[in-house]
Amino acid sequence: MPDMIVNLYGLAPVSPQAQALRDSGVVCRRAESYERSVVLAFVERLFPDWADELRAGFAAVPPNVYIATEAGTLLGFACYNATRPDYFGPTGVEASQRRRGIGRVLLLQCLEALRAQGYAYAIVGGVGPAEFYEKAAGATLIPASEPGIYRDRLNRSEGDGT
Ligand SMILES: CC(C)(COP(=O)(O)OP(=O)(O)OC[C@H]1O[C@@H](n2cnc3c(N)ncnc32)[C@H](O)[C@@H]1OP(=O)(O)O)[C@@H](O)C(=O)NCCC(=O)NCCS
Repeated sequence: MPDMIVNLYGLAPVSPQAQALRDSGVVCRRAESYERSVVLAFVERLFPDWADELRAGFAAVPPNVYIATEAGTLLGFACYNATRPDYFGPTGVEASQRRRGIGRVLLLQCLEALRAQGYAYAIVGGVGPAEFYEKAAGATLIPASEPGIYRDRLNRSEGDGT
């Protein structure tokens, strides 16, 4: 899985797309510290490999985590500065809610937050759906970026006491 790079100073504002989703009932916003256990349960259920990075995202105050909600129900999440500085991810949208524009808005909100911190570019580490990042943020693949930081990863059974 290669890494991708996004030019942050070339990004268009996310607010019109966020507002369009809001008009359809979906709110994309920064998560609050007091929502950590709900978001963590969602990620542990749907994307268990990413729970540790989510915890890292919630270690910041306010959290480096954005969420999508509809009538109090969590639909998706995205993190930044959770794996390495200037990294976007992980992110995930509940399967039945995909292709509504939620993933794009969460991605762009995180990228805007990175830009506000002074970064000129952001890294998406170990991408799955490269086309999503290309379409949503103009990301491009980084040559020779595989394996990236996700090399030599411990097996999930290590250190769990079994
Ligand atoms: C990747 C993911 C977050 C995208 O969320 P989403 O809400 O479905 O994405 P959006 O609806 O905002 O899509 C934005 C654009 O990307 C396209 N797109 C979305 N998912 C895509 C995919 N898997 N492959 C190719 N294109 C995709 C959409 O068609 C849309 O294109 P458009 O600009 O032409 O309209 C979601 O599919 C997901 O949770 N996947 C499983 C977890 C995952 O792979 N996370 C990323 C790990 S690097």
